[in-house]
Amino acid sequence: MTAVPAPMLRLSNAVNGVVEIPQFGFGTYRVPPEEAERVVSEALEAGYRHIDTAQMYGNEAGVGRALAASGIDRDELFVTSKLDNGNHGHDDALRSLDRSLTELGLERLDLFLVHWPMAAVTNIVETWRTMIEILQSGRVRAIGVSNHQAEHLREITDATGIAPAVNQIEISPYLTQEPLRALHAQMGIVTEAWSPLARGKVACDPTILAIGAELGRTASQVVLRWHIQRGDVVFPKSMHRERIVENAQLFDFALSPAQMDAVSALDRGERQGSHPDMVQWTERP
Ligand SMILES: NC(=O)c1ccc[n+]([C@@H]2O[C@H](COP(=O)([O-])OP(=O)(O)OC[C@H]3O[C@@H](n4cnc5c(N)ncnc54)[C@H](OP(=O)(O)O)[C@@H]3O)[C@@H](O)[C@H]2O)c1
Repeated sequence: MTAVPAPMLRLSNAVNGVVEIPQFGFGTYRVPPEEAERVVSEALEAGYRHIDTAQMYGNEAGVGRALAASGIDRDELFVTSKLDNGNHGHDDALRSLDRSLTELGLERLDLFLVHWPMAAVTNIVETWRTMIEILQSGRVRAIGVSNHQAEHLREITDATGIAPAVNQIEISPYLTQEPLRALHAQMGIVTEAWSPLARGKVACDPTILAIGAELGRTASQVVLRWHIQRGDVVFPKSMHRERIVENAQLFDFALSPAQMDAVSALDRGERQGSHPDMVQWTERP
């Protein structure tokens, strides 16, 4: 039950004291509701203390049962959820947060994100104003966004004076997102990398396997360590206990500058998930 020794990164828009996010956590996209309690319990046993879920994943109740059963102090845990696409309206957003907190069995979220901007069909500034109201209510410790592009980040920050604490975007060796990461650094936004393993594809990449052979590590460990050394937050998902354990063993080795460059050179602009412009729907996928 010893916690993984992940570095902590400070979030910018907390209203009640300092909020720090563990740079490493566990992802729960495509974790079916009936499996969520088991896999999140396995992750907590393996030392994960940061769990990334979302209203859209339909598994918050199972995540909540695992958190409660773990007996781990609430202040050692970091829990993120995300506003579903159909809940952007002011009252819907507030009600959806009530439901998330009830399902998770928590009084407060550590981080609440706008899951997708859906800029063609919603008013992104109004949604962000609602998130600020939620932050000021004290029911979440920090607020951020996901899948927002440069123009979205600038628009909501210029309109409200409050930048998102994080932007959670797809990043892998095949999609390194340098321009957006540079803007995040300028704006004080922490970058979170979703699908950090390119949904498992990196496990058979010859370049990454060769680096793993040099280091005596698996391909997944090489790639997760690459994300950590770039300074991004990662939360790989797995349904398998041995992979859950493997993916957390990242803090006793390092990639050399040449190995970092070799992984970064795999960038080919390839997405595993949807481009934010293509996601304008309000139903669960
Ligand atoms: N904000 C967003 O729009 C958004 C979108 C997507 C994801 N996310 C978040 O980011 C998290 C991570 O992304 P993701 O789940 O899409 O993809 P990922 O973590 O990059 O990859 C998960 C896939 O890799 C496999 N895998 C995991 N560890 C492995 C290992 N050591 N060796 C070989 N294969 C391995 C898993 O298979 P098994 O499960 O069978 O082990 C699964 O198929 C999500 O769970 C979610 O929390 C956010």
